[in-house]
Amino acid sequence: MASSSTSLPPSASPFSPPSSILIVGSGVFGLSTALALARRHVFARCSITVVDRSDPSQPGAFPSPDAASVDTSRIVRADYADPAYAALADEAQAEWRKQDTPASLGAQGRYNETGLLLVGDATPPEPPAAAAPAGEGSKPKLTGLDYVRMSWANVSSLAAKNPELAARVQELPDPDAIRAALGTGGSSGSWGYINKNSGWADATASMAWLLDQVQQTRRVDFVAGTVVSLEHDETTVTGAKLSDGRVLSADLVIVAAGAWTGGLVDLGGQAVATGQVLGYIDITEAEQEKLANMPVVLNLSTGLFIIPPTDRVLKIARHAYGYINPVTLPHPPLPLSPTHPPPANPTVSLPRTSLIDSNLSIPAEGAADLRRALREMIPWPALCSRPFRRTRLCWYSDTATGDFLIDYHPGWRGLFVATGDSGHAFKFLPVIGDKIADCIAGACPPEFRAKWAWKAASASASAAGSGSGSDSLAWSTVVTEDGSRGGTPGLVLADELAKSPKEVPAHD
Ligand SMILES: Cc1cc2nc3c(=O)[nH]c(=O)nc-3n(C[C@H](O)[C@H](O)[C@H](O)COP(=O)(O)OP(=O)(O)OC[C@H]3O[C@@H](n4cnc5c(N)ncnc54)[C@H](O)[C@@H]3O)c2cc1C
Ligand SMILES: *[C@@H]1O[C@H](CO)[C@@H](O)[C@H](O)[C@H]1NC(C)=O
Ligand SMILES: *[C@@H]1O[C@H](CO)[C@@H](O)[C@H](O)[C@H]1NC(C)=O
Ligand SMILES: *[C@@H]1O[C@H](CO)[C@@H](O)[C@H](O)[C@H]1NC(C)=O
Ligand SMILES: *[C@@H]1O[C@H](CO)[C@@H](O)[C@H](O)[C@H]1NC(C)=O
Repeated sequence: MASSSTSLPPSASPFSPPSSILIVGSGVFGLSTALALARRHVFARCSITVVDRSDPSQPGAFPSPDAASVDTSRIVRADYADPAYAALADEAQAEWRKQDTPASLGAQGRYNETGLLLVGDATPPEPPAAAAPAGEGSKPKLTGLDYVRMSWANVSSLAAKNPELAARVQELPDPDAIRAALGTGGSSGSWGYINKNSGWADATASMAWLLDQVQQTRRVDFVAGTVVSLEHDETTVTGAKLSDGRVLSADLVIVAAGAWTGGLVDLGGQAVATGQVLGYIDITEAEQEKLANMPVVLNLSTGLFIIPPTDRVLKIARHAYGYINPVTLPHPPLPLSPTHPPPANPTVSLPRTSLIDSNLSIPAEGAADLRRALREMIPWPALCSRPFRRTRLCWYSDTATGDFLIDYHPGWRGLFVATGDSGHAFKFLPVIGDKIADCIAGACPPEFRAKWAWKAASASASAAGSGSGSDSLAWSTVVTEDGSRGGTPGLVLADELAKSPKEVPAHD
């Protein structure tokens, strides 16, 4: 079995920067990496280009509006069951809190520290039907409550170092305590806690801020275009080909294409695109005022959550196993290695969004679940029956453990991947680019080295799969079991849409 020590460059030899870098994708991962590289002295003589499938008729529209990094709001929390992510999120939050000048990340309404109410249930969810068989090496599945308890432990321990922070974290031992903390008249879950040190960010505005930071460096070229395949010679990736035939060449290609990554690079079953449901409801000024002090509320037994409204729009979402959308690719993705034959009919789960399909709606199953969250968390009759103004499918690049995938490709020179966001990367906007740049420079933070590594075992599993004649890139085997997911694993989008009446409108 290949180990991550085959990654390039070997961590022992000194790092020599490439003369050109092409970053595919300008979401949180791609754009923050561009900023970190542009600011580092060691890359001062390296040209940096970012390509995104944004509409070329709208110059500057980076990232694309259907990217996971674009939305009204994203939760910013240090509430993690995993201490390494909890500590990194804590670092990120220090940046989100900066509001001293209009140019500070957290200023101009980009960050609001409204608190986060995390709740769970003691009853374990149904065993996942489509999950990998529980066998050798599989960890016991974490339940939503396990996750809440562990993240409570981590948050408490972070707060213990700072009494001012500690006063803002409070256990909520029963539904009445949860109701009191929520302040909407609703309640959810049987046990939880509120962390007033957490909040939410305006994702669209924060990405615009990040783009501005990148542009201020005057070091990065932006290209609007859709990459259809990676260019390579016998051993090395040399660039990317666009749908209009243009070729962008670079010494190092960084693929940060979010949930689309599997369409360009065979990820060997390490990460899979999963679609998550969102619903937006228009509310009145009076309703907005009544909700002004509500915290973000996230039920980790079901993944359903509500973020406080802005501009009279209330968003309800579900952090779940999501839907897979298997698509047979017109261009085979880059194989696992130069000697690995590409599968004849490569099928991977890829995003389906309303940019491509203007009639797309969310499945009735998802819409009903969002409605259920609203009824429970904000039980106001007039609100609960109001139709969604729009709905959206937003796509994660999910890994089995919920860890990101940030590493040199072990099979090809000149290729680095930064993806596998697993639905929780947005909060790291101010810090993740630097960590990715560290990994590029061969100095990945030790606490993340193994977590973020290209997983050789998955690569060999997929190799075995294609050896036995299977064309599948093993998308069906990835089920994220970090304890934070609700819903049913393995739902296929087309099947769920076929079951749904056509009345739920999608994106406006
Ligand atoms: C519904 C939902 C709720 C979430 N909630 C939270 C939250 O509360 N807190 C949190 O921290 N995180 C949250 N996340 C996760 C967070 O948004 C993502 O982890 C993060 O945005 C992923 O960034 P990315 O750069 O990997 O992907 P993306 O933002 O999707 O960026 C990928 C980019 O690559 C481009 N691209 C793809 N293919 C090509 C191609 N072939 N050619 C050119 N360009 C290409 C795309 O256009 C896109 O702009 C949520 C995600 C979703 C979907
Ligand atoms: C968020 O912060 C902005 C700026 O401080 C403020 O105007 C707005 O009312 C806040 N929104 C919420 C929901 O607290
Ligand atoms: C975080 O929680 C885990 C599990 O409860 C525990 O092992 C770890 O020590 C905690 N870390 C911190 C920093 O509290
Ligand atoms: C929240 O969690 C409880 C379990 O504690 C569950 O019974 C309930 O259905 C969940 N509600 C929502 C809206 O997710
Ligand atoms: C959307 O639906 C309308 C009406 O049913 C139809 O005419 C149109 O072709 C559809 N568009 C797409 C992209 O499927």
